[in-house]
Amino acid sequence: MESGKKIAIGADHGGYHLKGLLSDFMRQAGYEVIDTGAFSSEPSDYPDYARLVAGRVVSGDAWRGVLICGSGVGASVAANKFRGIRAAVCHDTYSARQGVEDDAMNILCLGARVVGEELAKEIVGAFLRAEFKDLERYRRRLSKIEEIEKRWMTSS
Ligand code: RB5
Repeated sequence: MESGKKIAIGADHGGYHLKGLLSDFMRQAGYEVIDTGAFSSEPSDYPDYARLVAGRVVSGDAWRGVLICGSGVGASVAANKFRGIRAAVCHDTYSARQGVEDDAMNILCLGARVVGEELAKEIVGAFLRAEFKDLERYRRRLSKIEEIEKRWMTSS
């Protein structure tokens, strides 16, 4: 059981149903879930939830985030526009674990129209159990990403 680490979760209509299942799954595992919506299966826009989840992670309100849309792609594209966010679509447990260990992924994106419910739970479990391996080569690569953010993510 996890001791109340906060996970922000968000989904558009494509991921609405899976969001409920994964929220229950994470609560049962001992995480505190911050549900940023959507709160119905009416059509909605994934960038809105990417903004809300990324905002929680960047501010430190949430330890990590989970975003769900139909494919996971739109949510990850939008989430990666936020400085400090390292989001990726992972539809296998290897990538979900290794993405944290090597790349410090802090938002997991899922496509509810791609993965089954049980696999989605296993992927989320792998993501949440993983910890960044604080090795010099991983830190060096992350600092290069931060350099890209500083150079190219300028406010206009
Ligand atoms: C919505 O129909 C769909 O386009 C969206 O959920 C997502 O798959 C985008 O990447």
